[in-house]
Amino acid sequence: MTDLLLLPGDGIGPEVTAQVRRVVSALAPDLKVEERLFGGASYDAHGTPLTDEALATAKASRAVLMGAVGGPQWAGVPRDKRPEAGLLALRAGMEVFANLRPALCFQPLADASSLKREVVEGLDFMIVRELTGGIYFGSPRFIEDLPGGGKRAVDTQVYTTAEIERVARVAFELARGRRNKVTSAEKSNVMDSGLLWRQVVTDLHARDYADVELEHILADNAAMQIVKNPKQFDVMVTDNLFGDILSDISAQLTGSLGMLPSAALGVAGKPGLYEPIHGSAPDIAGQCLANPLAAILSFEMALRWSLDRTDLADTLFAAVNKALETGARTRDLGGALTTVQMGDAVLAAL
Ligand code: NAI
Ligand code: MG
Repeated sequence: MTDLLLLPGDGIGPEVTAQVRRVVSALAPDLKVEERLFGGASYDAHGTPLTDEALATAKASRAVLMGAVGGPQWAGVPRDKRPEAGLLALRAGMEVFANLRPALCFQPLADASSLKREVVEGLDFMIVRELTGGIYFGSPRFIEDLPGGGKRAVDTQVYTTAEIERVARVAFELARGRRNKVTSAEKSNVMDSGLLWRQVVTDLHARDYADVELEHILADNAAMQIVKNPKQFDVMVTDNLFGDILSDISAQLTGSLGMLPSAALGVAGKPGLYEPIHGSAPDIAGQCLANPLAAILSFEMALRWSLDRTDLADTLFAAVNKALETGARTRDLGGALTTVQMGDAVLAAL
């Protein structure tokens, strides 16, 4: 069985996953690693961003680590064949419904945030975003011409009790291993799906997680609070659309997009999908300028959540912090190290 399937993808994806490969060799040489084309690279070679074989291999692996997909060269490709469609198909095919996105400020980077040091120093909260439902997947969706001229666009938000409950369960379980607090964000004041969301989370809490502190917040207020006082949060659970936006806001608290990993988990025992939250960064691709830490930290999460190697995850996390402490900085962090040199710094710290 493959332990770790690497899907480097496009743009800086292959550059940052190459550094993950070096870390795997140094830290966990016993892991069986495989690699497949994905995204635009797969489209160019096979006419599809995700082949059936690659998806089958992903589902049969213990963990999947994706680099990034997309780029201007595939802008003219039909929507269902675009690199990004491959990513949605991979997430849906692996049934990874809970997206864990840490907002974590590394001590040596407390001054690199767009906010004041006292707001971000010691920051460590986790957004759990529902990933396979909601408005990005709901039907009907279409754009149509209106008889009187102009057009009409329709997207549909759908959530079932089961979808809400399983992602909320992940959040409560996580909180128990952290500071024991869950904040659930929705718009129950204006959306029926928000109303159901609040009800289901409240019921699940009463039934199975009464020991965890639960708080409800409207998603717009959550956006404001994340900027104003993010340290009040421990685990925040929210839907696909709000989670997309709130986690990008949180990303900015911590310095750089190049620092942030993510995990997408499905049911217990099935593989998780790990990816840096950044995209393929066409503006710097091929120049060895990308920060590989988000990808390396995604591997750290894979060790923790899919590969049952918490010990190695702790070691790797400490090594990244140490590399930063000794002043290792890629350009996005205000330094001059190349992608490979940042990989060197982590290996040296290991
Ligand atoms: P992006 O995340 O690729 O880049 C945004 C900015 O951040 C750029 O200036 C880039 O140079 C910088 N950046 C990103 N990652 C970095 C890293 N590791 N080190 C240093 N700097 C980094 O987002 P953008 O430009 O909106 O999208 C570019 C392409 O990536 C598009 O085709 C988009 O669809 C795709 N994309 C793919 C994602 C994925 O594969 N999960 C996620 C987001 C975008
Ligand atoms: Mg996003």
